[in-house]
Amino acid sequence: MREMAQKHASVDASADVKWVAATTLDELWEGEILDVEVEGEPVLLAHLPGGELHAYQGICPHQEILLADGDWNEDRGVLLCAGHNWEFDLRKGAGINPTGCLYRYPVRAEGDSVQVGIPQDGGRHYNRWPAT
Ligand code: FES
Repeated sequence: MREMAQKHASVDASADVKWVAATTLDELWEGEILDVEVEGEPVLLAHLPGGELHAYQGICPHQEILLADGDWNEDRGVLLCAGHNWEFDLRKGAGINPTGCLYRYPVRAEGDSVQVGIPQDGGRHYNRWPAT
């Protein structure tokens, strides 16, 4: 397993974000993942068993493959990328093999609406890791 020292990239708690309705809980049942485009950004939503919501970069850190097209194991919380089988723990936003971190967006449910916080910093909201 390749080790990479990489800080967990996510929105600073004090950062200015724009909350945008991305989907509804009717479209994202517990145990499901969903790819959405929010303000032009590809975002992967995960509604974990137990109710936690997470929002991560929608494109694999390796190449331009939608993470939501991968093989999702809801019981383990693990997603296997459809491109080259990189593994991600969507409970933490962490790479399992290789290690590293997905970019994490703030996410919340307001009634039935699932909202993603898009940083208004003009920055890059995804990570790229070197190819193995
Ligand atoms: S594109 Fe995801 S592992 Fe290569």
